Amino acid sequence: MRISVIGCGYLGAVHAASMAKLGHDVVGIDVDQAKISELTSGRAPFFEPGLPELLTESIASGRLSFSTDMADAAGADVHFVCVGTPQRKGEYAADLRFVDAAFSSLAPYLKPGNVVVGKSTVPVGTAARLAEGLQESAPEAILVWNPEFLREGHAVQDTLTPDRFVYGVPNGDPGTSAVAALDEVYATPLSTGTPRLVVDYATAELVKTAANSFLATKISFINAMAEVCDAAGADVTALADAIGMDDRIGRKFLNAGVGFGGGCLPKDIRAFMARAGELGADQALTFLREVDTINMRRRTRVVEMTREICGGSLMGKRVTILGAAFKPDSDDVRDSPALSAAAQMQLQGATVTVTDPEALSNAKGRFPELGYEPITENAIERAHALVLLTEWKEYRALDPRTVGALVTEKNIIDGRNVLDSAAWREAGWNFKGMGRP
Ligand code: UDX
Repeated sequence: MRISVIGCGYLGAVHAASMAKLGHDVVGIDVDQAKISELTSGRAPFFEPGLPELLTESIASGRLSFSTDMADAAGADVHFVCVGTPQRKGEYAADLRFVDAAFSSLAPYLKPGNVVVGKSTVPVGTAARLAEGLQESAPEAILVWNPEFLREGHAVQDTLTPDRFVYGVPNGDPGTSAVAALDEVYATPLSTGTPRLVVDYATAELVKTAANSFLATKISFINAMAEVCDAAGADVTALADAIGMDDRIGRKFLNAGVGFGGGCLPKDIRAFMARAGELGADQALTFLREVDTINMRRRTRVVEMTREICGGSLMGKRVTILGAAFKPDSDDVRDSPALSAAAQMQLQGATVTVTDPEALSNAKGRFPELGYEPITENAIERAHALVLLTEWKEYRALDPRTVGALVTEKNIIDGRNVLDSAAWREAGWNFKGMGRP
């Protein structure tokens, strides 16, 4: 099929390359010239395992190209809208400016029978409003809402082999032909049995926000248990293992620590609360405010723990933060718990050095006042405390004895509960996990 992908950020770039991998002819379109130049030369503008290889392969095969000119979308039958929906400044609600701009600049190039597929995460009701707009500007195009569930760090695999497809379609005949078109796009994964659910627009939009809210709730639940474990002298890791063995609960997303960050979970739960308020259903989501509060409290908690381990004050202490990205295998620092805790420590008088294998240049752009050092050993040297906040495999593999020879004081906080506490203690470290005795 001939496909256009509007918006080549995280979602769009991965989607465009993956659709070419499925055998389609794809053009990716973005207003950012620098991004398009990078992508055209087969480089990903962000760190994502497997993406550079996929870009190079698809560009070489002639099935993938990029452009800044919306007119290049005119030859496509299916148009995926993959632009961002960030949190509005000073508000909880999502900023739909980029979605609206994408639809209005695409509309003049739409042909009868074209299918427009919304993939961005949007407040419920957006698809119906956009479909109404298309009725006027491109009456013979059909809108489908097809949310994306990819995780950063696993984006290519998640796009090519998702858990499920969700299609939000209009009622009646146009819906049927749009389903057929999208089935053709996803023929390969569908042929291997990937489930596909066809629902109305509002349900499709809600599947995405409900899924992210559930995941955020699961993380804040276990972090709340970590607080209780701290108060009671219990171990949240053993607790998570034990409750996770009940398959109604499941062990995934029960890792207590410094909490969730990134470009999705925090802003999606806030936008969901804002939208529920507009719909008069705010009471249904007041628990999400608590989910957010518990999550933000984790960052403060890790700062307090660092202060305690440094003897009650951070003034004049050298603190090394292991990890800047909001999670490993990503260079994304949006709403990163690690950087937010690091900035709080610096404000309390610590000299903070942040290290990360991939995210330092993004981190510097957001928190220029912090110290940065790309080489782990250099970052660790002469520290009074190490604080692991992103569980990159290189930090999980640190040898407590080797590291012990570099620091001024052997204090470590494992903000992701991934280190072997016994091994660190045996090597003479003062070791603290989160929610662990
Ligand atoms: C999330 C959803 O998982 C994905 O389906 C959706 O499409 C986009 O949002 P992503 O933001 O890439 O994906 O990261 P995810 O792996 O979900 O992690 C989010 C945050 O939660 C990270 O900061 C991670 O460190 C944290 N987390 C995750 C925990 O603190 N504990 C856990 O047990 C799991």
